[in-house]
Parts: sequence; structure tokens; C-alpha cells
Amino acid sequence: METIKRTKIVDVLKSDAFGTTVNVKGWVRTRRGSKQVSFIALNDGSTINNVQIVVDVDKLGDEFLKPITTGASISVNGILTQSQGKGQNIEIQATEIEIFGTADPATYPLQKKGHSMEFLREIAHLRPRTNTFGAVFRIRHNMAYAIHKFFHDRGFFYFHTPIITASDCEGAGQMFQVTTKNLYDLKKDENGSIIYEDDFFGKQASLTVSGQLEGELAATALGQIYTFGPTFRAENSNTPRHLAEFWMIEPEVAFNDITDNMELAEEFIKYCVRWALDNCMEDIKFLNDMFDKELIARLEGVLKDSFVRLSYTEGIKILEEAVAKGHKFEFPVYWGVDLASEHERFLVEDHFKRPVILTDYPKEIKAFYMKQNEDGKTVRAMDVLFPKIGEIIGGSEREADYGKLLARIEELNIPMKDMWWYLDTRRFGTVPHSGFGLGFERLLLFVTGMANIRDVIPFPRTPNNAEF
Ligand code: 4AD
Ligand code: MG
Repeated sequence: METIKRTKIVDVLKSDAFGTTVNVKGWVRTRRGSKQVSFIALNDGSTINNVQIVVDVDKLGDEFLKPITTGASISVNGILTQSQGKGQNIEIQATEIEIFGTADPATYPLQKKGHSMEFLREIAHLRPRTNTFGAVFRIRHNMAYAIHKFFHDRGFFYFHTPIITASDCEGAGQMFQVTTKNLYDLKKDENGSIIYEDDFFGKQASLTVSGQLEGELAATALGQIYTFGPTFRAENSNTPRHLAEFWMIEPEVAFNDITDNMELAEEFIKYCVRWALDNCMEDIKFLNDMFDKELIARLEGVLKDSFVRLSYTEGIKILEEAVAKGHKFEFPVYWGVDLASEHERFLVEDHFKRPVILTDYPKEIKAFYMKQNEDGKTVRAMDVLFPKIGEIIGGSEREADYGKLLARIEELNIPMKDMWWYLDTRRFGTVPHSGFGLGFERLLLFVTGMANIRDVIPFPRTPNNAEF
């Protein structure tokens, strides 16, 4: 076969160099046709759209074409032509085809018919080849790029925080341990506690639940930073919004108070949604038409209005009034409760009909590092609540006062051996500062309209599932 430089299908579809010979490579989505002419829909992952390859059956031979079935990989040389057919502007009249690899129709699982999301999760190694997951993962890439661009353009520094850590940032005790010890033969002290002195790190170590504590060290030196990395939570919650391994973006800014923090969060998330609409429209439109007819309207919706800002206490009042009027929630509503996503979604979808930033939560349901309010009961927390998602961002102004922070750490029995370095930021040149964490997959749930968080990350890790 004549060697011609490959053109990606995304570029070929935009080309108007009719009459020239091009080369495309990809995977066959479908092949149909008659005795005289065969039509191959070819996709190479560069776009949701296929290019149509038109084959003169007599020229290449019926026997040669037989193994070109759904899933087969081929290279095509052909003449770029204006298409007479409906549904595409260009097609390629094949002159030569090379078959790289076949995909036996008897065993290749991705045949033309629609598959359930559950089935596709079982073949997560192949599902990126579907239109749906191609779209989702192209959007995922674009959002990661937008996030780096947003922060870089505003003078934030991307700071790498460790994956392996000895401190529990969120204090929720949901950490995966990291050890090289023989688990069948653990040395214990007289109280029955495991001795870690001879373990790899010489102490108990885990996978991080958040990069925030180290992020604060950086913010109180570089001014404004963000992290963007994997985080791990061993929470046994089998919900469509929780993963055991997820990616989090955590900006942290010196001298920002909670109002600055809310403004940053709103600007940031709107930027991401705007970016998706401006740069991923073909994929979003596909997902809108296939799965969720309100997706585009919902994305445009959050850009329109400013987010509601409301205290937790006011939020509880609204929820209690709804209950009094007969609205049924699965979980109870009272001051002090950790809101369930049904409560969050009621505020956003039913009551205000736009995103809500809820602030000043009871200190008992929030982490130790949050700035304590004068009332002694609440902390300067802020959660951003989104339609369909509930909590998409969690953050706060941080307690900058050494004495108050130390008192809270002692109150909660957090071991000082884990916290001395964190407290040093308050001992030396402490400043007011704030930050938040955006769950990357929660953002992707929103932007793609997918119903389950397992379908916006290539290889989801959840209870009882670490396949691939
Ligand atoms: O609210 P969280 O637990 O806050 C923190 O980790 C803080 N250290 C952030 C900070 O202030 N720098 O988590 C932040 C966000 C949540 O709002 C949610 O979007 C996401 O992370 N998240 C999860 N996403 C997927 N699966 C899980 N199990 C998640 N847990 C939290
Ligand atoms: Mg939270």
C-alpha cells in the first residue's frame, strides 16, 4: 500500500481538498452496503463523528472485505470527495485498504446495538471505543486542560502534594493503609496495637484523602496555589456520586476570606462550564440527544444567574418549612444534621432553581481546620450545591489563630505527632486564608449529564470493584 501521511478524522471532516488522496486510520463502527458498493463508518477517536469510506466491491474484492466488520482496525487510502449522501459532507472513495486487525463478530462485545451502562462497566477496557465514552473522555480531557488554564492565567501555581501521607486531613478515618508488612504475621505490642516501627515508613501510612494540609503550607509561601491529583476514600458508600479513588482540585489562597473564596469558586466553576460549552459542543450535543435532553439547558442555566448565598441555619429553616408543608424526605431534617443530597437538591432544584452556596455549618459536622465563628457553634465552611449533583465543592476559610486551632485539635483528640508541621503555619507568620476542593468527577457528572459517577472516570474504583 502506498505510504501517505495519516490525517486524523477530525481534520479530514473539515477539509475541502476534494480530489486529493488522503490516508485515514481507525476502527470500523459499521459496514453496510450492496454487492456493488460497501460503506464503512470509520472512527479514530479524534471526534464523535465517523468518516464514511465508500468501497467499490469489485475493485477490492468481496473476500478481502469480509473481515472488515465492527471493531476491526484498518488503514485507508482514498480520494476525498464531496458526499451526495445525507448526513455527511465528505466521504472517502477508497483506493487501497490495509487491515491491521480483525474483531470476530462472534466474540467482539461491542456490536451495533445499544448496550446498558452496567454492561459497559463490565467491559471498561473496551468501552472507550463507544460513542458515549469517547465523548465523556474527550470532555474529561478538555475539563482538565480548562482547570489548569483557569488557574495558570490567574497566577496560581500548580503544587504537587503527596499521595502517601501519615495525616488524616478530613479526620473522617476513611483512609486506605499503605504497608509492606506481612499481613499474616503482624507484630503487636502488649495492648494489641500493631507495631509500625519496622514498616516501610516507620509509622502508619495511608493514601491521602485530600492535599489541602500540604496545600496550605504552599499557599502561605507562594500566595496562591492549586492541587489537582488523585485522592482516596474508603467510605463504604455505594452511591452514584461516590468513588473510592477520585480526582480533586484544591485551590488555596493566602489573604482570602470566605467571601473571596465563594467568589473564586463561582468564577471557577462557571469558567469550566463555559469552557465545555465553547469547546466540547459536538460531544455534549451527542450526550444531550442520547441521554439527557435538558443537559445543554442545564449547563447554560448555571451560567445565567449568580449563585444563591445562604447560611446553613437559613437552609435548615427552608427545609423544615417544606417538611411542614408536606414535602417528604427520606432522611430527617433538623439543625445539626449533615445534609443528604436530597436536601441539597431540594434547595437547588425546587426552592431556588439555581446553584446555592451554603455557609456557616455546625462545627461538629465539619473538619477541624475550619475557622470558628463568634457564636461558638458554627464554622466558616462553604459548600457549593448544584442541580442533579448536590455538593460539588466543599471548602472554608481556615482557622488562622494558633490557640484556637490547637484547642480544636486537642478537643478532637487528633494526634499532635501528625499535626506539628501544620500548626507551624499558624506559629510563624500566620495569615487569613481560604480554599476549597472540587470533585473532578462530580464536575464531569454535571457537564456530561451522566447519571453515575462510575461512567465519567475510565476505571472506577468502588467497594468490591478494582477490575482493570
Ligand atoms: O468536602 P470534601 O471532603 O473537602 C475536602 O476534602 C477539603 N479538604 C477540600 C478543601 O477545602 N481543600 O471534598 C471536596 C469535594 C466534594 O465537594 C466532592 O465534590 C468531592 O470532593 N468528593 C468526592 N467525589 C467523589 N467521590 C467521593 N467519595 C468524594 N468525596 C468528596
Ligand atoms: Mg464535603
